[in-house]
Amino acid sequence: MQSWVPFVPDSASTFSWKVDAVYFYLSGITLFFTLLISGILIFFVLRYRRRSPYEIPRPIAGSHKLETLWSVIPFLIAMTIFGWASKVYFEQYSPPQNAMEVYVVGKQWMWKVQHSTGQREINELHVPIGRKIKLIMTSEDAIHDFFVPAFRMKADVVPGKYTTQWFEATKTGTFHLFCAEYCGMNHSGMIGSVIVMESREFDNWLSGNAGNTTPAVAGQQLFQTLGCVSCHGANGEGGRGPTLAGLFGRDVRLGNGQTVRADEAYIRESILNPQAKLVEGFGPIMPTFQGQVSEDQLVQLLAFIKSLQISNPQQSTPVSSPSPSRTQSPAATTQSARNPF
Ligand code: CUA
Repeated sequence: MQSWVPFVPDSASTFSWKVDAVYFYLSGITLFFTLLISGILIFFVLRYRRRSPYEIPRPIAGSHKLETLWSVIPFLIAMTIFGWASKVYFEQYSPPQNAMEVYVVGKQWMWKVQHSTGQREINELHVPIGRKIKLIMTSEDAIHDFFVPAFRMKADVVPGKYTTQWFEATKTGTFHLFCAEYCGMNHSGMIGSVIVMESREFDNWLSGNAGNTTPAVAGQQLFQTLGCVSCHGANGEGGRGPTLAGLFGRDVRLGNGQTVRADEAYIRESILNPQAKLVEGFGPIMPTFQGQVSEDQLVQLLAFIKSLQISNPQQSTPVSSPSPSRTQSPAATTQSARNPF
């Protein structure tokens, strides 16, 4: 599975050629100016060499025209690199709405992956070809970095926050996954593989791992055991806290007049540091859950809150599952509700 140029990694995502194009452009400019400057250098060395030991050159007074020219042209070229690279960057780090979500937790020294249908993996990520995959990533300890060269994707995985990136694989096969941030003694061993499968194969793989609790269902159970439900009732009962149905992705008005988007980061912060952004009309009465919920559990709570739709607030069965056959009822999965990590 070698690519057509032996010194670039395999191309296996929709971003590959876009990133490569920027790099080839950069390399082309570098090569062009290296040759141009070296050529002129050699030409001048020969053309203006000292011909007799007593030769004294004419003094050079400088040229504003020349100085301006060789400042403005490189500046404009640099701006084209900046503009093009920014476009690719923003595309890569703005996940589309309809992407399939996968949670990734980095930990010294392994990658823990959980699919929205409940399947868990360690140091492996199975994905279907031709589908947009959004990774929601965080770390339990040091800063790690999720790097898949064949997909041209790489993003830091930082403790205390969520980072996201997305990709769409264009080739089946097994691709290297690296940790690209020095994170301690076994950093170099924090590797794994991304396995891209045909859609049907992937569906088989998913159903072959049946019996897992989906993160949303696990989150629902946590929501009960932690007592969240007593204030954040499904229909607003309790009344002491804002209702969570339909919250995800909505704009929330805060007590201080500001408006924030209820994204992953906001929900995370509201669980760990509830006083940071108080919703309009509610007092600072929620206790912090810092230290009481692990990263895996935060991911589960997040998945549960995401699954609460406004149209049917009482219905809390996860809706993130892409096909009905993969959705499991909470009752069917309760007995396997445990955290393997
Ligand atoms: Cu994790 Cu380096």
